[in-house]
Amino acid sequence: MNKLTADELREAYLSFFESKGHTRIPGASVIPENDPTVLFTTAGMHPLVPYLMGQMPHPAGTRLTDVQKCIRTGDIDAVGDSAHLTFFEMLGNWSLNDYFKPEAIAWSFEFLTAKLGFDPKDLYVTVFAGEDGIPRDDEAIELWKQQGLPDDHIFPLPREDNWWGPAGTTGPCGPDTEMFIDTGKPKCGDGCRPGCHCGKYIEIWNNVFMQYNKNAEGKFEPLGRHNVDTGMGVERTVCMLSGLPTVFDTEIFAPIMAKIDELSTTKPDDPEQTLRARRIIADHMRTATFILCDPKGGVKPGNIGANYVLRRLIRRAVRYSRFLGIAPGFTVKLAETICEKYRHVYPELAENLASCKNDLEAEENRFNQTLDKGAAMFAKVAEQLKLHNQTQISGKTAFKLYDTFGYPLEMTLELAKEQGLEVDVAGFEEANLKHQELSRTTSAGSFKAGLQDNSEVVTRMHTATHLLHAALHRVLGPTANQKGSNITAERLRFDFTWPEKMTDEQIAAVENLVNGWIAQGIDVTRKMTTVEAAKAEGAMALFGSKYGDQVSLYTIGDVSKEICSGPHVQNTKELGSFKILKEQSSSAGVRRIKAVIGNM
Ligand code: ALA
Repeated sequence: MNKLTADELREAYLSFFESKGHTRIPGASVIPENDPTVLFTTAGMHPLVPYLMGQMPHPAGTRLTDVQKCIRTGDIDAVGDSAHLTFFEMLGNWSLNDYFKPEAIAWSFEFLTAKLGFDPKDLYVTVFAGEDGIPRDDEAIELWKQQGLPDDHIFPLPREDNWWGPAGTTGPCGPDTEMFIDTGKPKCGDGCRPGCHCGKYIEIWNNVFMQYNKNAEGKFEPLGRHNVDTGMGVERTVCMLSGLPTVFDTEIFAPIMAKIDELSTTKPDDPEQTLRARRIIADHMRTATFILCDPKGGVKPGNIGANYVLRRLIRRAVRYSRFLGIAPGFTVKLAETICEKYRHVYPELAENLASCKNDLEAEENRFNQTLDKGAAMFAKVAEQLKLHNQTQISGKTAFKLYDTFGYPLEMTLELAKEQGLEVDVAGFEEANLKHQELSRTTSAGSFKAGLQDNSEVVTRMHTATHLLHAALHRVLGPTANQKGSNITAERLRFDFTWPEKMTDEQIAAVENLVNGWIAQGIDVTRKMTTVEAAKAEGAMALFGSKYGDQVSLYTIGDVSKEICSGPHVQNTKELGSFKILKEQSSSAGVRRIKAVIGNM
C-alpha cells in the first residue's frame, strides 16, 4: 500500500484517468444548481445528469474525471462512530456513452493495485445479483475474474446493495460493482461479507453501469445509452492506504482534531463520549464551513430545508463543544483551521471565509443564548425537585425544555446525570408524540386558533402573518381582509377576501414589502387596551371575533397595528426572510396564501 495524502490521492487519480483519455473537469457547487429534489449535491453524478441522459453533449467530451464535494446528512445521528461523515470528497471517472464495463473494471483494478498498491488479496467486490427482470451481472463477474480475482472475493448481492440511483425520484441508474478493502479484522459472524457494516470490509469505490432510466411511473426502462459513473471516497481511501483505524485519524482530520484538543478544557471521564464529541465537532464544522463558503452561496442557518440542515450541524457542534469545555467562539477558529487545510484545493474557502465566520459567530451566539436560557430553567426545575425530595424530571418538563427553550433531550439527560437526577424519557416521548399529533391536526385545518404552540418558529410565523396582512393591504388595497389564519411549525396559511387570482407581480410585490420590513429590523411592541380604543387607533381586528375587555394590541412600527393574542417576536429581523409558496382559491371570493420564513 502506498501511504498517500488526500492531495496525493486526488492527483494520482485524476492523472491516471487523464492517461486513459479523460478530461479533468472542475467539481460543482455543494448547493445544487437546478435541482429542487435534493438539498445538497450528494454525488458527482448530480451535476452531470443532463449529459448522462444524453440531453446534450458535454463540452469536455465523453470521458471526464473530477473530484466532487458531497454532502449526505441522512445519517447525521450516526456521526461520531469510526466511519460516518456528512461531508466527503468523491473522485469520479465518467463515460458518457463511451467505454463500458470492460474498461471500467480493468482500470479500477489497475488503479487500486498498480497505482495505490493495494494487495489483490485484500480486495473484495460485489456485483448485482439480478432482480425485477433485470439479470445478474455475469459480465461484471467474468471481468473481475479476468483480473485474477478468485470466486470467493466476488459477491453477487441484491438491488438493495448493488443498484445505484436515481439520485432523485426519476433519472439515470443501473447496477453497480463496489470495491472493498478487507481491514483484516475478524468477521463479526458467519454472515459477515462485503457490505456488512461491522467495519471489517470498507467500501472505497463504486462503479455504476448506467443503462437504465427510472421513469415517473417508477419503472426501469432502458436508457438507450451506456454510461459509467464512478465514485471513490477520498477520506476512506486515504484511511485504508494509511492503515489507520478511522478517517478521523488521517492527515485530513489531523489539524482539525488538534485544534479541538487545543480548545478543550475538560476531559470527561467517559473516553468513548469524548471521542464521539471530538468527531462530531470535526465533521459538522467541516461540512458547515464548506456550505457557508460555497461559491453559489445563499444557504444560511435557518429553519427550513438546507438552511435547517446547516443550523442543525452548527448547533450540534456547539452542544458537543460544551461537553469538552470548549469556550464560545470556537466555530470561527475551526473554520480558519479547515480553510487552511483546504484552501489550495478549494479557493472558495479563503474567498468566503470572512462571511462564513460572521454567520458562524451569529449562529453560535444565538444558540448559546438559547442554551443558557434552558440552563436557567433547568436549574429552577432541579431546585424545585430537591425541595420536594424528588429525583425525576417529568416528561412534560423535559419536553417544555426542548420545545420552548430548544434544549435537546440529550442535554437534559446530561445535566440531570450531573445533578444525580433522572428523566422520564418515556414521558418525554409521549409529550413529543402528542405535540406532533397536534401539529398534524393543525395542518389539517381542524384546529382554528393556531396559538397553542408557542415554540420559536410559530412565534415568528405569527409576526410574519401580520406583515403579510399589512403588505396585502398595501398591494391590493384595504378590501383584502383577513378571513382566517392557521400556523404550524412548517408554514403559515392566510385566507383573505379577494375576488381573483393574484398576479405574479402582485405576489412579488407582497414578498418584497415583507422582506423589506424584515430587513429594516422594526421593533414589535405590545400594549393592553380596549377594542374600541384599538380600532380608534386604526388597528386591524378580525371582525366578528369576540374579544375580552382588555386586548393586546401589537404594533410593528408604522407598518401594522393588529389586535392579537400573540405571541410575537420583538423585532422583525428575527424572521430572517419570507417566501410565498402558494396562492390559491380557498372559497368563493376568498384567496389563500401559504408562506414560509427562513434564513434566520
Ligand atoms: N454515484 C455513485 C455513488 O455515489 C458512484 O456511489
